[in-house]
Amino acid sequence: MSAVTRFARVGAHSHIKGLGLKDGKALPKADGMIGQLKAREAAGIIVELIKQGKMAGRAILLAGPPGTGKTAVAIAIAKELGEDVPFIAISGSEIYSSELKKTEVLMQTMRKAIGVRIHEIRKVYEGLVTHLDIKMTRHPYNPYQQIPESARITLKTKSEERRLSVGSAIAMELIQKGIREGDVIWIDSETGKVTKVGKGEEHTGEKYDVEAETYVPTPTGPVFKEKEFVYTVTLHDLDVQVHSRSGGIFSLLFGGREEKEIPPDVRQEVDNLVKKWVDDGRAEIIPGVMFIDEASALDIEAFSFLTRAIESELAPIIILATNRGITKIRGTDIESPHGIPLDLLDRLLIITTEKYSRDEIREILRIRAEEEEIKISDEALELLTEIGEKTSLRYAVQMLTPAYIHAKKNGRKEVTPKDVEEVKRLFADVKESARYLKEHEEEMLK
Ligand SMILES: Nc1ncnc2c1ncn2[C@@H]1O[C@H](COP(=O)(O)OP(=O)(O)OP(=O)(O)O)[C@@H](O)[C@H]1O
Ligand SMILES: [Mg+2]
Repeated sequence: MSAVTRFARVGAHSHIKGLGLKDGKALPKADGMIGQLKAREAAGIIVELIKQGKMAGRAILLAGPPGTGKTAVAIAIAKELGEDVPFIAISGSEIYSSELKKTEVLMQTMRKAIGVRIHEIRKVYEGLVTHLDIKMTRHPYNPYQQIPESARITLKTKSEERRLSVGSAIAMELIQKGIREGDVIWIDSETGKVTKVGKGEEHTGEKYDVEAETYVPTPTGPVFKEKEFVYTVTLHDLDVQVHSRSGGIFSLLFGGREEKEIPPDVRQEVDNLVKKWVDDGRAEIIPGVMFIDEASALDIEAFSFLTRAIESELAPIIILATNRGITKIRGTDIESPHGIPLDLLDRLLIITTEKYSRDEIREILRIRAEEEEIKISDEALELLTEIGEKTSLRYAVQMLTPAYIHAKKNGRKEVTPKDVEEVKRLFADVKESARYLKEHEEEMLK
């Protein structure tokens, strides 16, 4: 179980399964990746460093022209890192929200990118339920209602059987969780929380259960035992938890807080708590990745926040991506490479992506067509490749689905050059639309 928020923005990148490396060398075609060998190998080194925990508090910049696979490489990094390492992505423009300050959005995102793996040892009663008897009584204030008063339950493991008498709270839990004879369960000895593990494999009781159940073996060892639980949460999850607990009387009266901003003292409290857990050997910190796509949309304040963040004690790995060359830093009149302030640029490891060859564009389009289950004739693929070369790969990839819809509307089973031409006529690429805007500048709204 992992509470870590995973990368959702896949869509156009669903064909990417990893970096496609073998012993650190990029294969020309693997894991859905084509070409861009240098960038993929560099990304592979980053992944190694992250896994070894040597990358925390550093930052990487993916820089290259539009449609050269920067976002694709970032997603491949996420795939290589696996489920346990948090990877959280935002687009630069997402920091401008009406509800929260820019730095608050960045701070929350940063803390979503830091995982805390918690090991918890609980004392539990665990076993197969061989006998269950719940005693009901009348509700103290409502004579027409029955409530559980107590229960007798027999739990069996491979080596012993124990009869337990439990109070009304646990009896209630047993009813709510729908526990029956033949189930394998455990009861937390401190909180009384009941968890159903599954149906006992060996139990050959009546089988009128229709719903699919998981069958599990009878537990081994004693019924009363210590059990280790491992789960991963993020610093942000903990912030939210501590924050809502400190809501006090106001959250009772008004149903929780409206503002989602988390005060610094709450974060401080969480940091101290986590550090204590780490010192006690109860938790490990897993620095993940915070990916900021379209980084040129960040402004000077956001950049200085990030520069400071990199230096802080609990920081994730920050990956920025941009397709801008020398341009103004947003919020200033200063020009800088990629629109990024020099003091941050100095701290970045830069990976550049290069324009694709015609053959590479054709291969990527072929993979995308396959991924979207689109049939396309060789001539149409060739035409689309040519369009990708002249305009951008992203544009060509985006044309696949509309072209297929057009083909089907016209009774064709595969995309033909005709469909590509028609869709090209209907949808402008960026250069075309810019030219159009220029020609018709006078008539446009200003
Ligand atoms: N090397 C590659 N192998 C396979 N697919 C790729 C590769 N590079 C890019 N793609 C695919 O091509 C499309 C365009 O690439 P992507 O969006 O990653 O470019 P980008 O560099 O992020 O562009 P932009 O600067 O416009 O954000 C996407 O669908 C992406 O998955
Ligand atoms: Mg991109």
